[in-house]
Amino acid sequence: MPSKEKTPRLSVLVVDDDKYIPQLIHKILFEIHPAISFKSFSLPSEAIEWARSNTIDVAFVDYRLPEMDGLSAIKELRKYAPHVFFIVITAHTDISIAIEGIRKGVFDFLQKPLNQDLLSLCMERVLSQISLVKENELLHDLLKNQNILLGNSPYMSAIKEKIALFSFSNSPVLITGETGVGKELVARHLHLSGKNKNAPFVAISCASLPLSLFESELFGYEKGAFSGADKQNIGKLEFAGNGTVLLDEVGEIPLEIQVKLLRVLQEREFQRLGGNRSVKLKARIIAATNRDIHNAVIEGTFRRDFYYRLNVLHIDIPPLRQRTEDIEIIAEHFKRKSCLIYEKDVSFSGRVLELMRQHPWPGNVRQLQSVVENAVLSTNSKTIEVMHLPQNFIQTQSTHASHPPNAISASSIKSFKKTYAKEDIISSLERNSGNKAKTALDLGLTRTQLLYRMKKLSIQ
Ligand SMILES: Nc1ncnc2c1ncn2[C@@H]1O[C@H](COP(=O)(O)OP(=O)(O)OP(=O)(O)O)[C@@H](O)[C@H]1O
Ligand SMILES: [Mg+2]
Repeated sequence: MPSKEKTPRLSVLVVDDDKYIPQLIHKILFEIHPAISFKSFSLPSEAIEWARSNTIDVAFVDYRLPEMDGLSAIKELRKYAPHVFFIVITAHTDISIAIEGIRKGVFDFLQKPLNQDLLSLCMERVLSQISLVKENELLHDLLKNQNILLGNSPYMSAIKEKIALFSFSNSPVLITGETGVGKELVARHLHLSGKNKNAPFVAISCASLPLSLFESELFGYEKGAFSGADKQNIGKLEFAGNGTVLLDEVGEIPLEIQVKLLRVLQEREFQRLGGNRSVKLKARIIAATNRDIHNAVIEGTFRRDFYYRLNVLHIDIPPLRQRTEDIEIIAEHFKRKSCLIYEKDVSFSGRVLELMRQHPWPGNVRQLQSVVENAVLSTNSKTIEVMHLPQNFIQTQSTHASHPPNAISASSIKSFKKTYAKEDIISSLERNSGNKAKTALDLGLTRTQLLYRMKKLSIQ
């Protein structure tokens, strides 16, 4: 039986010309499920008219009515309310009415005089069916939204535009941004927007791979390549086929592997360890990092040529504190998800939403997700208040209280978009030795579009 807290407000209709029946139904239903809106009519035509513009969850319909019988009334009502649970009230014990009713999708029959226990039982069955239907709808919704890239801020919109644009090309993409901003999610979107979305998406966590395993993980090995290699094993680059390989935390790849990968990216082929047959690299390469990789190049811990090879196309995801408009929509999404998992129905108080918008979110979306999950779990009432937020969140909050959230002015967004594009174009021009046709192809632009942008961005 669903809990009362979880069950939504129910709209109940009763069509019966006996005044006593609606009163009794109302009294009993109110005891079981106080969140009801109740409407009764003695004439079916009035009920049908009302159903045209009102929502109904459950309808009790007397079989013997003025104007038409109960089953004909149900047929009419169903035109406006196809998902209603219909219950027929009848003084007849005629089996043919029951058979016809079941054919017409009647949920249950109750006999006059109404037995209170049977009415309660019938209503509890209706409630548990309704809660099942709602849960199914939510599950469906969650599955559909599992990988959804939320956010309507100008930054997010620019990123979505880039994803759409880049999905036409097979060039490497470098995704940068602080921890938890959604780099892997953006990489998945790039994969899912491309024409090979049904091929594998393979993420390789470069930070967790010991040097000795890098090559075998990436390139695979032949039987006997090293002691313990008792059978051939294909590597991740090969496994991905014409899908996508995400080199996650690419800044952690050791220099000696960088040089090998660079050659693979240039030649678009490689060999399994211990083998001499070339295997074609068909997958698209996406690299992600939260390190300042440009700085790593200057410091000499990341190869410049490898950086250029990876940074053909570039998506930078700004931290959450710079796109405060996205916070509420993302928090609502995680709240809905947690409510479904923990069987709760809660909403954020205005103050909590305000605090969330002001928070600096050093762990970005991942941190927001865990704060929301925590708060949903800690709340016993219908509203998530400040006291339900994790202690460390409130502490960080108070240390930042004197600083207003990062305001984003229209001009900063404009310059963001501008440098975003300028950086891409310059590095692509460098890689292509200034050849504009090749650069345009790299960037997924026409030559005219490239020349127009170069002029606008004052690129010589
Ligand atoms: N815009 C968004 N909309 C919805 N969910 C998001 C969004 N951005 C990130 N997420 C979610 O936040 C979590 C962290 O995202 P993700 O793993 O892609 O971040 P990351 O940048 O790769 O982090 P790290 O640098 O720590 O590897 C994931 O559960 C992801 O689905
Ligand atoms: Mg990641």
